[in-house]
Amino acid sequence: MNQEDSKDRFCAVDRLNGNKGMAGSAMRVLSGAADLGDLVDFLSLVLDNVYSGIIVCDSDCRIVFMNRVYGDLLGTDPKAAVGDYLDKYFPHTRMPQVLSTGRSELAQRCSLKTDMPMLVNRIPLRVKDQVVGVILQTIFRDYTAMTDLISRLQGLESEVKYYKKGLNRLLSPLYSFKSIMGSSPVLAGVKAVAAKYARTEAPVLITGATGTGKEMFAHAVHSASPRSSGPFVCVNCAAIPRELLESELFGYESGAFTGASRKGKVGQIQLAHLGTLFLDEIGELSPKAQATLLRVLETKMLERLGGVKQVAVDFRLVAATNRDLREMMSRGEFRDDLYYRLNTMAVEIPPLSQRGEDIPLLVRHFLVALDHPETEVSPQAMEALQNYPWPGNVRELKNVIERAVSLSEGRMVDLEHLPREIIKAPYDEPQVCENPDSPLAEQVACFEKRVLEHALALNQGNMTKTAKMLGVSRSTLYEKCRRYDLADTEKSS
Ligand SMILES: Nc1ncnc2c1ncn2[C@@H]1O[C@H](COP(=O)(O)OP(=O)(O)OP(=O)(O)O)[C@@H](O)[C@H]1O
Ligand SMILES: [Mg+2]
Repeated sequence: MNQEDSKDRFCAVDRLNGNKGMAGSAMRVLSGAADLGDLVDFLSLVLDNVYSGIIVCDSDCRIVFMNRVYGDLLGTDPKAAVGDYLDKYFPHTRMPQVLSTGRSELAQRCSLKTDMPMLVNRIPLRVKDQVVGVILQTIFRDYTAMTDLISRLQGLESEVKYYKKGLNRLLSPLYSFKSIMGSSPVLAGVKAVAAKYARTEAPVLITGATGTGKEMFAHAVHSASPRSSGPFVCVNCAAIPRELLESELFGYESGAFTGASRKGKVGQIQLAHLGTLFLDEIGELSPKAQATLLRVLETKMLERLGGVKQVAVDFRLVAATNRDLREMMSRGEFRDDLYYRLNTMAVEIPPLSQRGEDIPLLVRHFLVALDHPETEVSPQAMEALQNYPWPGNVRELKNVIERAVSLSEGRMVDLEHLPREIIKAPYDEPQVCENPDSPLAEQVACFEKRVLEHALALNQGNMTKTAKMLGVSRSTLYEKCRRYDLADTEKSS
């Protein structure tokens, strides 16, 4: 086809436009009553109004179509350009290569005569496997805008990476079995059992009195499990109001209830996907939440509140409680099917009173953790610590050591730095005087003598320490010791 022929061909569109008008053609195409002329007209209209610049070349690299956008970019009349060789506008055009290889070149950088960098696609046009032309299409007319966009995307990507890292840190376990201090046979046995359970996929139930280390065990189970590289998501059922707990656990769709966020919310179970969900204080779950949790455990499918779509969730459940679930079950407050599901792998942490031999190790551990590795504990103070029943278990011990370190200002921890209830006093002995019928003054004197004897014994007769411990002056203590004939207990002052 020579240049004049192709110009003629495209002048036909002009004639159509002139005869019938673009708007008329478009209306006929849109209402389904178009003829061929209308169609040509309509397609020109569409191609002139797309955002991209479009040029179509024939197999000789001559322009057979240019849309208005490319005409504007080149500063030329698009219709007048029809029939021109492409290298008139692009001296280094790669269109001949695309014609010969038949391979598309996508998102390639290209510069116009004006030196404005752009990104273009070069796409071969095929008819029955034969390349008959090429389409040149701009995808970013302004390369600078695109590089801005790319650098903004890169910025966002690194921001996402930063937050992901932070989230992973938050969702990572803090403890392993190594962090659980204690070498008593009873604790070592429990640790060994828990480590075995950790390697399975079954739910684990951790029980024990307050402060025994249930949360530490839950972290350790996750750390020692095949899911250790996945998230560790902690939900304390006692810390969240019951009415909110379900939405927190299972998530909700937008508008699921009044006050719900418009965007909906991902539940903690879904966040634990491929990791472990730690449900602390599981005894606080409402009966409805217990039923839903059991269903999710059994089907491994989750349905957000107010939603219909089910999503697959793959998480391992570790639960903890200091309540007696069996008793709750007998009162109908805890579902028996959920209880039996959880109780197959049960870990019961013994109270600290059953593992007194762990106390020196724990004390040393806390002194180091408090940054006082040099601080010593006197033998009397350690004996008192080992004789105390520790109703608050390890947490209470930790607090007592923290207080003692600050009272002793980092020097040796002695009896005077321990709370009164730990320095076992005779006050709680049921009978304070041998003769309960004697007058009050006599009974009080008898009791006072025993208190002094006990305090002196704890302080190995040291009058200064005893006076400080009892909150009296040294002269008062001397006077009282003389009165009760205890003066010879003094060893040093
Ligand atoms: N064996 C241990 N070694 C070191 N620290 C321990 C040990 N056991 C408990 N602790 C510490 O004691 C404190 C209480 O532990 P944790 O929170 O795990 O107890 P809990 O059984 O979950 O208590 P609660 O029932 O009150 O929630 C924590 O500071 C924990 O680090
Ligand atoms: Mg806890």
